[in-house]
Amino acid sequence: MKNIAIFASGNGTNAENIIQFFNDGSHGAKVNLVICNREGAGVIERAARLGVDCIVLSKAQINDPNIILPLLDKYNADLIVLAGFLLLVPGFLVDRYENRIVNIHPALLPNYGGKGMYGHHVHEAVVAAREKETGITIHYVNGQYDSGDTIFQAKVALTPDDTVEDVEAKIHVLEQAHFPQVIFDTFFKD
Ligand code: GAR
Repeated sequence: MKNIAIFASGNGTNAENIIQFFNDGSHGAKVNLVICNREGAGVIERAARLGVDCIVLSKAQINDPNIILPLLDKYNADLIVLAGFLLLVPGFLVDRYENRIVNIHPALLPNYGGKGMYGHHVHEAVVAAREKETGITIHYVNGQYDSGDTIFQAKVALTPDDTVEDVEAKIHVLEQAHFPQVIFDTFFKD
């Protein structure tokens, strides 16, 4: 059985979906650790309810190899999943987990990515540009925001009267439908 560590900053709907998908034990991997960088984030309560250890670390602690690497070793992390994680992953972690860090972004990269482009900021920009479609991108993580190789994209059509909340809801449906399955297919199928 392989181990997945989830890094998250927010509400945690993706983290919960991934935990529920994997932690019945039938997919060859389990989420045994959630790392959160924000006190009071919804993901903390979700992890507790699902019986997964959740550790809150500051940005400085996450950027400290003497703290984060021993913690990941203690939990035997094979894969790191960013699920609404808003900090840049430090270079030493990218090197240590080469091709074993995956992120989900709520737009069709390379559009609407980069520093500051997260969550509702992305959806606001998509609505302001009157895009006819948007989607999700699941990609490997390198040392820059939203620029690692793409693993998977899914699209959804937009109508001219879609609000930011409508776009967010459409993205949520795509994320719930695809993220755990893509993680499984990419990293644990064989
Ligand atoms: C998700 O929509 C995810 O794609 C996005 O944050 C949301 C987190 O929701 N991530 C980014 O914008 C990363 N740049 P959640 O906390 O409910 O999973």
